[in-house]
Amino acid sequence: MLDQYEQADVKSFYDEYGYFIFKNIVPLKLIEQSLVEIDLALKSQWEIYFLGTKYPGKDIAIIKLFSRNRHYRRVVYEWVNKRMLAPYNYAMLDEVKQICKWVGFESPMFQMAANRFHLPEENDFKTGTHQDIGIMTTDISLTLWLPLVESTRMNGSVKLWSKSHNEDVIVPEGPDYRGHSWIAQSITDKYQEIWEDYEPGDLLIFNTKTIHTSTPNNSDNCRWATIFRFDNAEDNKFFDMEENPLHKGYVMVEDKKENSGFKVTETDKAE
Ligand SMILES: [Fe+2]
Repeated sequence: MLDQYEQADVKSFYDEYGYFIFKNIVPLKLIEQSLVEIDLALKSQWEIYFLGTKYPGKDIAIIKLFSRNRHYRRVVYEWVNKRMLAPYNYAMLDEVKQICKWVGFESPMFQMAANRFHLPEENDFKTGTHQDIGIMTTDISLTLWLPLVESTRMNGSVKLWSKSHNEDVIVPEGPDYRGHSWIAQSITDKYQEIWEDYEPGDLLIFNTKTIHTSTPNNSDNCRWATIFRFDNAEDNKFFDMEENPLHKGYVMVEDKKENSGFKVTETDKAE
């Protein structure tokens, strides 16, 4: 499925701009497996708590389940994001191995694969501007992001800043109110925003130093996506060090309970 691309073109674009967008290269049957897996997880919960009511589909079910209470929401958030198996399928694709090679990874070392979803009207939970490099092991490392549904400017498509990988590792301004790090606008202002529409089957890759963020979901449905990442096993500069210097690129403080993964209600604030 990479036939439509030339390695040299991808590599030179990626090196210059810090990202590349492949169109229609991820098998749709894998994406269907991801969506089915999410549906099964939510349906099993639905049948416990909304017994006798027809399962309304994942977009409505997740909102109703999340509104049960914040403790329960945290569990379901963790499950749907991190406990699904289908995201690993993408990381095992031959095309992905090939892409890693194309951008300079002779020995890709898998880091993680997980779903990322973004509910309508929950912009408090957007991830702010950041680089991924701070949670990686190797200087040369890659993030891959793929939409499981159509992902547009309307429903929270990922935004990144072209050429911002040239900033190297940025010590972030954070932590923000959710405990996450963020990058000053004075830095992002130097670069051009890339905020594209994606179809299922498309695959965005970017340098883990490329600044990116999630954007508001102004649609009625959830924006479902998957991310996965690779380090470069041959990039051994930091392996013998007690403290990996890349980690200065990410700040995460003790979770600010009321803002992690769920909507704050007046009742929550009162607790
Ligand atoms: Fe990220």
